[in-house]
Amino acid sequence: MTTTAEPRADLAALTLDPSDTKRLEGLVQVAARLTDPLEQALQTEAFAALAERLPARLREGIESFRDTPPDHGLLVVRGLPVGDIPPTPATYGSNVLGETHPSSLLVALVAHPLGGLIGYEDEKSGALVHDVYPVPTDAAKPLNSGSTLFDFHTENVHHPVRPSHLGLLCLRPDHDRRAATMVASVREAEPLLSADDRELLRTDRYRSRFPLSFTRGLAEDERPVTEPHPVLTDGPADAPGTRVRFNMHNTFGTDPEAQAALERLNRAMHTVHRAVRADRGELLLVDNRIVVHGRSDFTPRYDGDDRWLRRFYPYPGELRADVLVRAGGRVLSKDSYARA
Ligand SMILES: [Fe+2]
Repeated sequence: MTTTAEPRADLAALTLDPSDTKRLEGLVQVAARLTDPLEQALQTEAFAALAERLPARLREGIESFRDTPPDHGLLVVRGLPVGDIPPTPATYGSNVLGETHPSSLLVALVAHPLGGLIGYEDEKSGALVHDVYPVPTDAAKPLNSGSTLFDFHTENVHHPVRPSHLGLLCLRPDHDRRAATMVASVREAEPLLSADDRELLRTDRYRSRFPLSFTRGLAEDERPVTEPHPVLTDGPADAPGTRVRFNMHNTFGTDPEAQAALERLNRAMHTVHRAVRADRGELLLVDNRIVVHGRSDFTPRYDGDDRWLRRFYPYPGELRADVLVRAGGRVLSKDSYARA
């Protein structure tokens, strides 16, 4: 799909006041003095105590979003302190900010009420906080480092341990303020589908290729494919409601009927979607179980002033030792797929 419907506009943001912003700056400064690497530090009592001191309106907003997400599955927070930002890098894999930059510590604090950060050994070398900026060699690819339309997808659709939420903190918008994160909720799209499609999408007639971001260096036909899975499922008794799992670039029906239903779902997602153009200090949190997200196209200049987001993956559950890279850590190993 190369065009998008007009987005819905009804979205309230949680806007912090200057005293909240100042309080957050103070918490980040204290967090910077914790000496452990971030992966360990964020599991300490000291870090938990800092997260308890998040400004009340922010903490309550995140907890409410966690416990009773709105049907649109999106929370926008404005007024976050992001620190001094150097020029936007233009080569893949530049890790210019590191774990102790204020924006890294800020997202770790924000993710704490959502269960804390996870990373993946086979994506961005297991980093817990990712840098998202355009790279010339990826311009036309459906990647976070690309700049053409990136259609709707569940984050890490192929992985058995998918982040419950996805966070995107804007350090710098694109020059033209054109780049939009598109978010579409299954809770709003499903009513547009026929009963037959809703049933079909709940069958194991779909598979997903591993995304490009996890398979850098592999040829297209070398990318692994998941076992068959449904696109729609019903949530557990304590969190009822439909959940969604697909990546329009990588998920496919195993027969034409299943594929057609997936394409109708994607069209319904475009009909109900919302588009958010974040500015510096704005955070988008989405519930990765009930929304799919994507990005509009935009025009990078590769001049050091390009769009730059920090991306992170909250996950609320315990992780077993045998799926982790490091004991007691939060990074899933690249051979964890069969065990997770
Ligand atoms: Fe994504």
